[in-house]
Amino acid sequence: MTNREKFRPVYHHTPAYGWMNDPNGMFYKDGVYHLYFQHNPYGSTWGNMTWGHSTTTDLVNWNYEGLAIKPDAWGAVFSGSAVVDYDNTAGFGKNAVVAFYTSAKSSPWGDTQSQSMAYSLDNGKTFVKYAYNPVVTSSKRDFRDPKVFWYAPDKHWVMILAGGQEMDIYSSKNLKDWKYESSFGAKQGAHGGVWECPDLVELPVEGAKEKKWVLICNINPGGPFGGNAAQYFVGTFDGKKFVNESPTQTKWMDWGKDHYATVTFSNAPGGRCIALGWMSNWQYQTVLPTLQYRGSNTIARDLTLYRQDGELLLRCTPSPEIEKARMQKVSVPSFKVSDSYDLASLLEGNDGAYEIDMTIKNSGASKIMFTLSNDKGEKVNMYYDIMRKQFVMDRSESGKVDFSVDFPAVTVAPVYDTDNIRLRLFVDRTSIEAFGEGGKFVMTNQVFPTEPYNKMSFVSVRGNFTVKSMDVYKLGNNK
Ligand code: FRU
Repeated sequence: MTNREKFRPVYHHTPAYGWMNDPNGMFYKDGVYHLYFQHNPYGSTWGNMTWGHSTTTDLVNWNYEGLAIKPDAWGAVFSGSAVVDYDNTAGFGKNAVVAFYTSAKSSPWGDTQSQSMAYSLDNGKTFVKYAYNPVVTSSKRDFRDPKVFWYAPDKHWVMILAGGQEMDIYSSKNLKDWKYESSFGAKQGAHGGVWECPDLVELPVEGAKEKKWVLICNINPGGPFGGNAAQYFVGTFDGKKFVNESPTQTKWMDWGKDHYATVTFSNAPGGRCIALGWMSNWQYQTVLPTLQYRGSNTIARDLTLYRQDGELLLRCTPSPEIEKARMQKVSVPSFKVSDSYDLASLLEGNDGAYEIDMTIKNSGASKIMFTLSNDKGEKVNMYYDIMRKQFVMDRSESGKVDFSVDFPAVTVAPVYDTDNIRLRLFVDRTSIEAFGEGGKFVMTNQVFPTEPYNKMSFVSVRGNFTVKSMDVYKLGNNK
């Protein structure tokens, strides 16, 4: 994918041209990760929803594969998922890739959303639509985004989909005939908007032998900083019904404004659970100042569960493949900040795509502040508020911000350890993804500086702190 456009990220997936929203149908097979995406091939705003297709072998370098599933008489092709049918349960063929999506149709008699399927016998390159679509219907107006997976203990398939402000669960033996089992959602979590793009995955609990089920629930609007966000629930699942173990809690997967429609790859290797989100927000996605394309994905993240103060929470760590994108390393010698400290240059020939990995030891500072900036005075302020145990990012002066009143923003994440800080910042021209405490919090925000941030300054409030290690890596892809 060309990097000539100023605002095109280097190591994040973007569509070659046109509009993109949610990631769809992600699966892994024979060494290749497949990503489909909500795509308008004919314009740079939402419409003509089609599944575009990209592949990668390393989660960093993406190849555009063309249009995979196009609109038909049942309507536009909305979000969904894909599975590999190893045992040919559907009869389409051994190892067929079977995709599920929402057929969405507007008509003078009302809008309808129903679930359709299509299968591929060439590893996801081309799809044949099932002749008896749709396979699941409902009278609900919002009824979409089917995620299908195999539930091994009962040897059946499960479909979870978003129906208004709840998630509906179905089961099937053959991927074609679906039986309604249960619904989840009443009085649980955040309900400030419609629920969309569910996922349901079983994850190991760190330091324990047990596993728990995590129900990912994207919501729009109703996110903590306006617009969309991804919440999740942790609990048990018996193949038919999900039970949330903490009904009074709302848990957020990411504490920025630009992380949505997050779902995981089917069949990821080595038992991994790898998630990708759409790195944007419906509040302003149609007016982003990019050219040639609109929409990008987050970097891939591996998910696990950890226990914090009795609660099971999601840890999201950058998938280790991103380390292969490292092209150049600058190690800044340890320094102490009693007042302020300036780094005049982060990287030579900085093209705006890099990672900063730092560890900081606090010695009584009440705020640990740092700012990324460029010569134009565009900047992103970040700080740890030690009293409040928070990490804060302020993009209100980050560059181009005036295209939407909802874009300038301050976002806040909870932090547990404020003595020994570890932070990884992934900057890629138009985004910053902050991973703190080994993925205990993530914050994803877009930014549009007119030239790369190449300076960093540190400020200590009250006591002092020491930046014990700071590595800056230029990140690239081999395109
Ligand atoms: C989420 C969403 C989905 C829908 C798709 C349509 O961003 O609204 O619920 O399937 O986008 O493009």
